[in-house]
Amino acid sequence: MTHDNASVDSALAYVDKRQQQFLDELFELLRIPSISTLPRHKKDVRRAAKYVAHKMEALGLRKVKVIKTEGHPLVYGEWLEAPGKPTVLIYGHYDVQPVDPVELWNSDPFEPIVRNDNIYARGAVDDKGQMYGLLKALEALMRAYHGLPVNVRLLIEGEEEAGGNAIEAYVREHPQKLQCDVAYIADTGMPAPGIPSIVYGLRGIVYTEIEAKGAKHDLHSGEFGGVAPNPIHALALVLAGLKGADGRITIPELYSRLKPITPEERALWDRSPVDKPALLKHEMGVDVLPGEQEIDPRERLAARPTLEVHGIRGGFVDEGAKTVIPAEAVAKVSLRLPPELLPKDVLPLLRQRVAELCPPGVTMTVRETHSGEGVSVPLDNVYIRAAEQALEQEWGRPPVFEREGGSIPIAALFSEILHAPVVLAGTGLPDDNIHAPNEKYHLPNFYHNIRQAVRFLDILGHDPAVLARPGRMSASASNGSGKGEATTAKAGARAGVNTKAATQP
Ligand code: BES
Ligand code: ZN
Repeated sequence: MTHDNASVDSALAYVDKRQQQFLDELFELLRIPSISTLPRHKKDVRRAAKYVAHKMEALGLRKVKVIKTEGHPLVYGEWLEAPGKPTVLIYGHYDVQPVDPVELWNSDPFEPIVRNDNIYARGAVDDKGQMYGLLKALEALMRAYHGLPVNVRLLIEGEEEAGGNAIEAYVREHPQKLQCDVAYIADTGMPAPGIPSIVYGLRGIVYTEIEAKGAKHDLHSGEFGGVAPNPIHALALVLAGLKGADGRITIPELYSRLKPITPEERALWDRSPVDKPALLKHEMGVDVLPGEQEIDPRERLAARPTLEVHGIRGGFVDEGAKTVIPAEAVAKVSLRLPPELLPKDVLPLLRQRVAELCPPGVTMTVRETHSGEGVSVPLDNVYIRAAEQALEQEWGRPPVFEREGGSIPIAALFSEILHAPVVLAGTGLPDDNIHAPNEKYHLPNFYHNIRQAVRFLDILGHDPAVLARPGRMSASASNGSGKGEATTAKAGARAGVNTKAATQP
């Protein structure tokens, strides 16, 4: 195929003409309550997998399969009929977070509705809306080109939000089946409406339950109070001890291993037109940003470790009063980790610190629920350049380059195991309420996401000139900023090797 502007225009026109139809199809997917962490929704999760598979088949992908796993199914599809063109692995997830507290939703989380140009539903933006958009981008290209400009493989998972490891096991077992030059993911955000973003870093996570046990059974607080261990109070002491009022986690190794932010990287952040602290305060409805005051909030959000308590269970929480000293209590605690801090190194440090802080008479066990490594994307490669071009064409302004604080555990494995650089180009907004009541997806961004993916794939398949041109990133920020190095030593050795598309198309 030769470069043909008419083709990309006709694919974009296809998207524009079918806006309502794409939205209706997304609504069908959004109506399926595929909450991966709640066992009672197992069948719904499966139904969502089948819906995605069905749509992949309908658009013309080959070898579409719902793959059974120990957890929730994976959905795979491919189209490999563009010899000599790059192969793009498209990843997304069809599972969603729980909806509680459901009474805070203004409409049913599983009955999508458009209000004020926003789609409201659980999973609207994270990630059904964004993932489904990528399928629609392929459909548009398929219809306009009677084929695709590049090869694609799709791997869509159903337990991202639950920290499941089915996809990790699959990627580790079948690297040859997933061979690709680049992975493309739309599951991140942009800083403000109209400001497109390429995310070049994500944090990892270690999610744990700290279980505290005291007496062998519950006790009367009058009969035993004064001599009894109280696991809830012990947990409170430990939680308060793990992170001080100054926002610093009391595990010094977490900080001594951090890579400093270079002036070049800070300059990259400064290119963003968004006043991040003001935006954050507005979004949270607070007028202070607690945490390490001496550290730039942008750094705290993405490049510093965090420790957060998600919930505490134990004792008597019903109406009324009960004078009990509980025998046990549990806290759910996670740490977000910049890519240079690995969960396997941090977990033992956490265990040791909890043991040090635990008061006498109580025993504490730190159980790992799940974990995933952070991601650091080298920016000086042709795929980032193609994405930069695609986003600039779509939005009429160049993208900002940002690190985000959330985690997409499989992204690190794509570079480690498949040796593929990752392009993270999502279209979520800071006020999309992901994981919270009233999750939404800005409707124009639903279509922008489809159109920017169309452009990206088109550029990779058709426009070697764009790919050969030096990108902004190779000229500036990646010089000495550390971003040319990938997360792990292994991945680092491969940074920038996947340049096939520069020479082949
Ligand atoms: N889409 C998010 C990840 C994300 C959030 C990226 C915000 C950038 C900004 C993803 O679906 C998610 O929420 N992941 C979980 C993973 C965890 C359960 C292992 C997360 O980050 O909590
Ligand atoms: Zn997501």
